[in-house]
Amino acid sequence: MRLKEKIAIVTGAGRGIGQGIAVKLAKEGAKVAVVDISAENGENTVFLIKENGGEAIFVPCNIAKQEDVEALFNKVVTEYGTVDILVNNAGINRDGMLHKLTREQWDEVIAVNLTGTFHCVQAAAQLMREKQYGRIINIASASWLGNIGQANYAASKAGVVGLSKTAARELAKYNVTVNAICPGFIDTDMTRGVPKKVWDIMISKIPMGRAGKPEDVANLIAFLASDEAGYITAEVLNVGGGMIL
Ligand code: NAI
Repeated sequence: MRLKEKIAIVTGAGRGIGQGIAVKLAKEGAKVAVVDISAENGENTVFLIKENGGEAIFVPCNIAKQEDVEALFNKVVTEYGTVDILVNNAGINRDGMLHKLTREQWDEVIAVNLTGTFHCVQAAAQLMREKQYGRIINIASASWLGNIGQANYAASKAGVVGLSKTAARELAKYNVTVNAICPGFIDTDMTRGVPKKVWDIMISKIPMGRAGKPEDVANLIAFLASDEAGYITAEVLNVGGGMIL
């Protein structure tokens, strides 16, 4: 119970990696605000957490909308009193080769992955500076280094890394840590959409020989969210089974 009495927000927690994170933080004793654009999925995660004896609420929110994020933080502070941990996990992909990528595909991905993360980091920074404590963990991606067919997604995730490192430097003296996590290839709805051929190629590039599980990412996040990780900040940490060098 490393996170007993801590209050956590996890965005995109309705399924996939975010759900794994929310469940893990709750198991470690945190009270979790499960945030998602999909009410059905979000409520499902809250049900899972409560089934395991944990504490959670669902807060509907589109992180791309600043007013939604303000309402989210107000709701969590009203309900639980504060925010100790923020995990920015919500993200989307709209893949396409650069020469065919539409402006809409570009805008959508930047709006959610980068601007949405900024909205949440800013709201958390205002609150955590005041209380002189906080843990912010942003989910970037191995693709931030560049990936064919993902110009929009890679740019958004590289932006998340830059945002994380800047926030880490600004907030260090307030006892707030900020780190970015880069999952490699994790088995979720996002990756299950790829053709079997692409799936097999991806697995062949992973020295561990398997796709990652949401729990593989969640275990690292539980540590970074804990008091034990108080001197680790401005880092970019890979969870890729050896895939990312
Ligand atoms: P997923 O598509 O399975 O789940 C994403 C969740 O975010 C969904 O529940 C969705 O409803 C929610 N969401 C989407 N847009 C939202 C918005 N505007 N506001 C609030 N919630 C929103 O995706 P997955 O695979 O679980 O990915 C989670 C994060 O990990 C994403 O940021 C993704 O880019 C990143 N990632 C995933 C990898 C993978 O292999 N699955 C690899 C590297 C990074």
